[in-house]
Amino acid sequence: MRIGIIGKGRVGSALAVGWRAAGHEVQLGGRETSPNASEIANWADVVVLAVPFAALESIAQTIIAADKPVIDCTNPIAMGPDGMGLAIGHTTSGAEQLQAKLPGAHVVKTLNQVGAEVMADTTGFAHAPVQFLAGDNEAAKKVVASLLVDLGFEPLDAGGLSKARLLEPFALTWINQAIAQKHGRDWAFGAMPRTVK
Ligand SMILES: NC(=O)c1ccc[n+]([C@@H]2O[C@H](COP(=O)([O-])OP(=O)(O)OC[C@H]3O[C@@H](n4cnc5c(N)ncnc54)[C@H](OP(=O)(O)O)[C@@H]3O)[C@@H](O)[C@H]2O)c1
Repeated sequence: MRIGIIGKGRVGSALAVGWRAAGHEVQLGGRETSPNASEIANWADVVVLAVPFAALESIAQTIIAADKPVIDCTNPIAMGPDGMGLAIGHTTSGAEQLQAKLPGAHVVKTLNQVGAEVMADTTGFAHAPVQFLAGDNEAAKKVVASLLVDLGFEPLDAGGLSKARLLEPFALTWINQAIAQKHGRDWAFGAMPRTVK
């Protein structure tokens, strides 16, 4: 599969490593590099947005991703009086706002709930790290779920795109543990069904 990643920072680079290792063709692009965001989105079967939340506005004006899955890795993080929080929530989400800006695309919210280090290497855990995904297009979610498996995650369907309102705060739960609670970045959430009762 051709995966076009816009944003070649920590998340974009990590995902490129994992998907190339799984045999996918990956193109990475940044702000002022060639290929640019529009070229990457045209080339790709699946587009990944691994950029600061604030950059989505301009990127959505640049790319056309008609009928393509668009993975939204971003988190609408803002600093408030109590420290790091979310700029929006409850009645909308970053992913829903992105979908409104890219009406022909199939936005899927995922890969926002764990640190880039785990995205690059999911080995060494007692259980596959979980990654929830939310989106309104079932076919797009199926494609994205298989790409999550290729990275070593257990994909769990969270439902329609409005469930991104749950997944964006969930990312803050990871960040809070990693930074404020000083657990570091080398851990992930796992879903553990009871096997013995
Ligand atoms: N870091 C994590 O562990 C982590 C985990 C989960 C989710 N996230 C989310 O993932 C997103 C990316 O995080 P990151 O840590 O990878 O950030 P990062 O290391 O700062 O990388 C961001 C990348 O986006 C590029 N960029 C910025 N504006 C752009 C534009 N208008 N067009 C194209 N590219 C643009 C930057 O290019 P330049 O180099 O030109 O500035 C850079 O390559 C954020 O929304 C973050 O909240 C991060």
